[in-house]
Amino acid sequence: MHNAIKNYEDVDSWKTIMFLYNAALKEVETKLEILNDEFQHVHQYNPIEHIKTRIKTPESIVKKLKRYGYETSVENMVKYINDIAGVRLICSFTSDIYRLASMIGNQSDLKVISIKDYIKNPKDSGYKSFHMLVSVPVFLSDSVVETKVEIQIRTIAMDFWASLEHKIYYKFEGHAPAYISEDLKSCAEMVSQLDERMLLLNEAIQKCLETSEEKD
Ligand code: GTP
Ligand code: MG
Repeated sequence: MHNAIKNYEDVDSWKTIMFLYNAALKEVETKLEILNDEFQHVHQYNPIEHIKTRIKTPESIVKKLKRYGYETSVENMVKYINDIAGVRLICSFTSDIYRLASMIGNQSDLKVISIKDYIKNPKDSGYKSFHMLVSVPVFLSDSVVETKVEIQIRTIAMDFWASLEHKIYYKFEGHAPAYISEDLKSCAEMVSQLDERMLLLNEAIQKCLETSEEKD
């Protein structure tokens, strides 16, 4: 991080900024846990399999600013880096993803800044996930600061694929041999088919349970 800090003023604001992103991340994580608990309470079902959170490292903030062609400064990082605070929601079924997205959209204190639906429109790599950029108000003793958090929502299968793809991407610095990229793409196709079949299976199970309940 040393090259990002230009003077003592920046040292101070860097710390303040990271404190804010940490606070925003905690708030969003708690909100999501409450939504999940409420859903369990009402429907006896958890749409979230698990939640992962992370704060971007200083090294990768600096790297991303460079990649975008911006000078390293706290101001630029706040303005241009949207995923300093990141939450990943892992679900069982694609239907859970859209259910969660609409639950998040309905939270009156969260502002949805943008949505990228890489499930309806997968990336060329085969990447699938639902991204929401939101801002959450962080209440301090004398002010309220709207702070950005990136939420990625995906199924277990999509997450499995994305983790391996990410590892391969890094290993080959974006230039994986063609047969590996092609194999990954075909795995992405299998992930989509698996997700679809698991969803249909789950719906069939639900129907069976409902009819047996009616009989009882
Ligand atoms: P960056 O890709 O982060 O520079 O930002 P962006 O503005 O292009 O946003 P996008 O929504 O495309 O990607 C944000 C994040 O999604 C990334 O930081 C990754 O965590 C994830 N992601 C996007 N594309 C891919 C991909 O092809 N493979 C994997 N494994 N992850 C991806
Ligand atoms: Mg990207």
